Amino acid sequence: MPEPVLHDLTVVVLAAGAGTRMKSRRPKVLHEIGGRSLIGHVLAAVEVAGPRQVVTVVGHEREQVAAHVTAVAPHAVLAVQEQQLGTGHAVHVGLGAVSVERGTVLVAYGDTPLLTGESLRDFVAEHEAAQRAVSVLSGVVENPFGYGRILRDEDGEVLGIREQKDTLGDEADIREINSGIMAFEAGFLLDALPRLGNDNHKGEYYLTDLLGMARDAGLMVGAHVLDDVDQTEGINDRVQLAQRARLLNDRILDHWMREGVTIVDPRNTWIDATVELACDVTLMPGVQLLGATRVASDALIGPDCTLKDTEVAAGATVVRTHAELAVIGADAQVGPFSYLRPGTQLGAGGKIGGFVETKNAQIADGAKVPHLSYVGDAEIGEGANIGAGTIFANYDGVAKHRSRVGRHAKTGSNNTFVAPVDIGDGASTGGGTVVRGQVPPGALAVSAGRMRIIEGWALAKRDGTPQADAARDAE
Ligand code: UD1
Ligand code: MG
Repeated sequence: MPEPVLHDLTVVVLAAGAGTRMKSRRPKVLHEIGGRSLIGHVLAAVEVAGPRQVVTVVGHEREQVAAHVTAVAPHAVLAVQEQQLGTGHAVHVGLGAVSVERGTVLVAYGDTPLLTGESLRDFVAEHEAAQRAVSVLSGVVENPFGYGRILRDEDGEVLGIREQKDTLGDEADIREINSGIMAFEAGFLLDALPRLGNDNHKGEYYLTDLLGMARDAGLMVGAHVLDDVDQTEGINDRVQLAQRARLLNDRILDHWMREGVTIVDPRNTWIDATVELACDVTLMPGVQLLGATRVASDALIGPDCTLKDTEVAAGATVVRTHAELAVIGADAQVGPFSYLRPGTQLGAGGKIGGFVETKNAQIADGAKVPHLSYVGDAEIGEGANIGAGTIFANYDGVAKHRSRVGRHAKTGSNNTFVAPVDIGDGASTGGGTVVRGQVPPGALAVSAGRMRIIEGWALAKRDGTPQADAARDAE
């Protein structure tokens, strides 16, 4: 029986360059679009190709880049390129950090966040099926300046790659360019890398020279033209960062609309690559869904919401709300103008209404905080109703304290709960009550002073004013 052919893929991600045009203290590949760093997108995409190992080559600002790569792709091996002597040298350094004998080596750059995993997977599959020594992922662009050009003969056979600064004659007019993504047969690569020279305009070891070397040795080489050139373009400055962020967002929105999400205003809706949506979710204009946010079916979000790492259950309505690390239950209502801080959990059918801020608050099924309140470090029981303008005074200046409101308790307007407070099941409080300590189940707590009436006060104390005149007219 023939031995099964095992897919043995090593991916080398190059990220040692300086990225000076970003004019940033932050390394270029750590800038973010669509909820991930640039290199985070690349590391996520390469996983689709099914690599046995991934190595990232770092150099400039290596501590920051290395720490980030370890955080987002803990399995990735790191290799340090002390001096940036060229892409060929960088791959050599990368392979020095892992063991490679056979199979395929795929080289990608850390600054091409739009490249999809499917494109990489198909490129590797074609390279392997064609049994090539070297494949390059190319694209035909309007303005090829700065890129390596793909050289072909009259029959269209790929001859080599010429870097911008080394172009001869009319080679600079060639619009088919090297995206930078290349695949190699490992044996050829290991043999040829040490033979690369740096006799060129930049004095660098060009990875791209390997294509011509393979062809000269009579080995198979080829280019795969990617129709969607947007995928292959890297990011060099903040203008490109914004353009690519928009393109990535368009792609994410198209995906969710095809999955059955209604997006009323796609130009004004932003969804991170990491968000999950169900069918029949509706997003109104001005919605940002960020991080690990998940929205279940039939929920309505917007207009004007920012939800970060927030879970919204089926049928909930969330209007003009800012929420972070919050959980919103099925058929619950939130907003308008609500601020849900980390640890907020709203039960099914519950309500957090206008101008309400919540933090570390478990609000049970059917419980409501409808108006103008602050709920911090509290547990509110099923079916309870918190009166308008209630403050859970959770902080005594030194420590935070928790409070509890029991099931079906009804608290009056303009209450202050001086935590820790425990209001029993079915208890009530009067308007303006300052609650301290415990209210037994079923009891009514009142603390506002009894109202006194001083008859004729306006005429006695405010005579000659419109107020006094109005009082006199009413007599
Ligand atoms: C490279 C290609 C060019 C291609 C273009 C696509 C070579 C010689 N040229 O040119 O054909 O059209 O990319 O964008 O490969 N890097 C390192 N260490 C180094 C040098 C580079 O890690 O010593 C990394 C950079 O961080 C970057 C990538 O490799 O992510 C490409 O390097 P860059 O200097 O931008 O190459 P280009 O001149 O743009
Ligand atoms: Mg470049």
